[in-house]
Amino acid sequence: MKQVLHVVGARPNFMKAAPVLRAIERHGIRQTLVHTGQHYDRNMSDVFFNQLEMPEPDANLGVGSGSHAQQTAEVMCRLEPVLLEYKPDLVLVYGDVNSTVAAALVCSKLLIPVGHVEAGLRSFDLTMPEEVNRIVADRLSDLLFTPSEDGDAHLLQEGIAKEKIHRVGNVMIDSLVRLLPAAKNCSTNGFPQPLALVTIHRPSNVDNSENLKKILDALIGISHLIEIVFPVHPRTRQRINGFGCHASRLHLLDPLPYIEFLALQIRAAVVITDSGGIQEETTYLGVPCLTVRENTERPVTVTIGTNILVGDDKKKLTAEVKSVLDGKGKKGVIPPLWDGNAAERIADILCHL
Ligand code: UD1
Repeated sequence: MKQVLHVVGARPNFMKAAPVLRAIERHGIRQTLVHTGQHYDRNMSDVFFNQLEMPEPDANLGVGSGSHAQQTAEVMCRLEPVLLEYKPDLVLVYGDVNSTVAAALVCSKLLIPVGHVEAGLRSFDLTMPEEVNRIVADRLSDLLFTPSEDGDAHLLQEGIAKEKIHRVGNVMIDSLVRLLPAAKNCSTNGFPQPLALVTIHRPSNVDNSENLKKILDALIGISHLIEIVFPVHPRTRQRINGFGCHASRLHLLDPLPYIEFLALQIRAAVVITDSGGIQEETTYLGVPCLTVRENTERPVTVTIGTNILVGDDKKKLTAEVKSVLDGKGKKGVIPPLWDGNAAERIADILCHL
């Protein structure tokens, strides 16, 4: 293996790719980093590159926002010539965003082997764009790096050859482990204490204004029990701007950098989210997590971690917050191989190819 090319595009890709870049670097393999530009705001992209100490991308495709078809097609059109120029031996794609599936498709047509980092996760909910992206990316990949046992089982069920599947653990936890000391040292003065930390950005929760209003009403109710800090994703911000949201103990902020967000997570009494990665981070940190979704592609966070699915039941959400504040929050354990060394295991596998 002489050259590995990494494709990243959206915020949750960056913390997964950073440790893999670092681990492969130690093995002296040439690396190329391509940013699709799916996320482009400074606080959704550059800040993460800086804090995670990622190298400058060798190419930025500048695709920006658009419908799913537009965004996916733009990544495909703009990535193809870059791959033809660099001629990598392997392309690594991360997670389940549109950039991931677009890159996997381009590689498969150019007969360039693909490795999918965070393979095998399934919510079994095809109304989620990410579920489609996961299934297609996995089907087209030659190396499938899974974070947990359920990932292996799903891939085997779908007929993927056993030899392609490598359970390496959770690379996102590698970034967390590395930057946890910085997060512990990061002051959260100026933020309320105790606090509940909230992130909500899934299309199913925010694109329909009735759904979003119901969530915000529930949060306003909960804010009478505990002050809420809510860094707002641009997608959610656009929707909230349409009708406004004012409550003195519900603090809406711009998206936060990685270390600052982690600093709040470790100090939060409870986290309320619809993110995938945050379900995992809270399980690692032992912080109770209430997930505003009917399903999760990360079931270990529920079976052995601190996660509870509350779906769209706002009464359950409020009741679970009360239960946490009464000291009855869910306790959990850290899943196997979520130990900070997953990227090293990927690098070892690549070296022995
Ligand atoms: C994407 C991923 C989602 C992931 C999320 C994390 C897909 C299908 N979805 O969703 O899995 O959880 O990233 O953040 O790939 N916008 C900005 N600035 C930016 C980026 C986006 O203002 O830097 C706005 C644009 O108006 C855009 C909207 O946010 O239309 C949504 O962005 P998009 O990349 O389409 O999807 P996300 O909701 O961010």
